[in-house]
Amino acid sequence: MLLDRVKPLDAILATAEKKSLKRTLGWFQLTLFGIGCVIGTGIFVLTSVGAQKAGPGLMLAFAIAGAVCIVAALCYAEIASMIPVAGSAYTYSYATMGEFLAWTVGWALIMEYAIAASAVSVGWSGYFSGTILGGLGIELPAWLSAGPLALGGAEGGLINLPALVIALLVTSLLIVGTSESAKFNALLVAIKVTALTLFVALTLTSVEFDTERFNPFLPAGVFGGFGTGLGAVGAAATMFFAYVGFDAVSTAAEETKNPQRNVPIGLVGSLLFCTVFYVLVAAGAIGTIGGQPIMDALGIPLETGSPELARQCAMPQYADALVCSNEPLAHVLKVLGFSWFGNAIGIAAILALPSVILILIFGQTRIFFVMSRDGLMPEMLSRVHPKFRTPHVVTAITGTVVAVAAAFFPVGQLADISNAGTLYAFFMVALAVMVLRRRDPGRARGFRVPALWLIAPLTIAGCLFLFLNLPSAAMLFLPAWTVLGLLVYFLYSRSRSHLGRGIVEVVDDVGGEETMVPIHPEGRTD
Ligand code: ALA
Repeated sequence: MLLDRVKPLDAILATAEKKSLKRTLGWFQLTLFGIGCVIGTGIFVLTSVGAQKAGPGLMLAFAIAGAVCIVAALCYAEIASMIPVAGSAYTYSYATMGEFLAWTVGWALIMEYAIAASAVSVGWSGYFSGTILGGLGIELPAWLSAGPLALGGAEGGLINLPALVIALLVTSLLIVGTSESAKFNALLVAIKVTALTLFVALTLTSVEFDTERFNPFLPAGVFGGFGTGLGAVGAAATMFFAYVGFDAVSTAAEETKNPQRNVPIGLVGSLLFCTVFYVLVAAGAIGTIGGQPIMDALGIPLETGSPELARQCAMPQYADALVCSNEPLAHVLKVLGFSWFGNAIGIAAILALPSVILILIFGQTRIFFVMSRDGLMPEMLSRVHPKFRTPHVVTAITGTVVAVAAAFFPVGQLADISNAGTLYAFFMVALAVMVLRRRDPGRARGFRVPALWLIAPLTIAGCLFLFLNLPSAAMLFLPAWTVLGLLVYFLYSRSRSHLGRGIVEVVDDVGGEETMVPIHPEGRTD
């Protein structure tokens, strides 16, 4: 009964046809787009969090998380080439596994994107306070620079004001209709890649670089223990955040020339590029200033974002420690005496991270929008602003939630919670690809995953594996959030679902014309 409401693929594809976007993107633009969505707080900020969890094993963590994302990306490429419409994993699930499971995916994605945007806002705040305010000789009082439990500000932290402000600022830009042009994205990618290249070049050639600093390589082991989020795989579950965002590339399939070839190249290419860079950045940071975790009396790394770690970090002997910094890449260069380059990296992060926040909040509002157009969320939420042509109501609500979460929570915990939702979505996409291959083998696919019956199960196993290595609080957040979602579904959405009432929308674009199409019993639409 629960799995019976499957949205007819033909109705979804009618949407895509109606939009009929021009196919203009090649593999290079797609790769740039992917890199633009992906490089952000993960590498610029979470590097210190990952080092506290795994020490030099952070390099292994980046490689593990990158590998899971690459197999997931192949699944995304196939399904996006079949169903090239907005709403991504939610829409794919609706067309394959039915409304109920699609609801759980959409609900998880809402949380994922919003919390990820909060995490990037907190990351931005670290660089803003360190580079801009620090550079001007202004020290923000501790109570204004970190949430009550945030890294480095645990004691005396009350609210992370810069994070709150940047989240609200980006939200306002989205409400007035700012979207990123391809040219602007290319500029930001150039800034980010130049900054990271500079970092790698300066650190790997530094006289301070010493392979002894990689010893012990795995101070917290490979597995740090179930629910602890420690060790190389615990760090991998956190550093997974550094790759989140590539799924945005899959939604551009519809605008891509020769998607068969270009979408997988764009997806896998941007992920491979980032993986190599991330491992090199971690090697440069650890090889020059060290990256061993600060341990408790039992020899276990202290919890990231905890008051105890903040207390230790305040001790003079840890003044230069990588694991204590809120702006780790700038910090490494400053410790090495490259203050000018350190500031330049800080400015690169300050310029580039808001665009990642923008992409994430944008993604969240579009999922909300599509769900509301399906009748599963109040129509009021998808109301489009008469002047700006943007879904201003849902954007304002989302932005407020993002800002509040950014103001009060530490970056590592936010990233872990967001990862839980993303892993669930990737899991369902891999499942959806297999279901579609069985159920609809003859339908045209712009791209087919090679060795699907190996790659999709590997994706499922990889997602489960990373999920089970998250800290227990993040693991528990997903089921708790899902229970809340089920209440909303059964008390509100199920009875209002357009599909349940026998109608399907064929337009999902913001501001697009709405057409209700009755569904024939066999699932065909008029
Ligand atoms: N991957 C994005 C980041 O690291 C979300 O900021």
